[in-house]
Amino acid sequence: MKVKWVGIAAAATVLMFAGQAGAAVDAAAFKALAKKKGCFNCHGMDKRILGPSLREIGRKYKDDTSAPDRMAVIIKKGSKGGVWGKDAMPAYAKLGDDDIETMVEFVLSLR
Ligand code: HEC
Repeated sequence: MKVKWVGIAAAATVLMFAGQAGAAVDAAAFKALAKKKGCFNCHGMDKRILGPSLREIGRKYKDDTSAPDRMAVIIKKGSKGGVWGKDAMPAYAKLGDDDIETMVEFVLSLR
């Protein structure tokens, strides 16, 4: 019986943390995703490459309540360029909504 209770307590703890992780910005998940998808080829954390640095983006839109939705569309469908420079952002049509949300939340949390 003792073993069973320990199992239930462990499961409850995991659920608690899972709930918290969902609400908070998940930097580790962002970095793993961005690495896998090649975002860092064009966006440094603090350095412009082909696109703006991620921190610049976070600062520019910090008070813009429509930024999260717009940014999600740009990541999914790409841009034509002209917002930050002449270069365009490629579309990531295959990224799931959860992954896009992780990315948008993280970028907008940067200052
Ligand atoms: C081939 C280079 C390239 C890659 C790869 C790339 N981007 Fe971009 N990104 C750009 C450029 C260039 C811009 C600026 C576009 C413009 O001015 O319209 C941009 C703009 C952005 C913006 C700002 C949009 C805005 O509203 O101003 C975000 C957010 C962004 N990229 C996120 C990402 C994420 C997340 C990834 C990986 C999934 C990624 N980018 C991969 C080149 C790239």
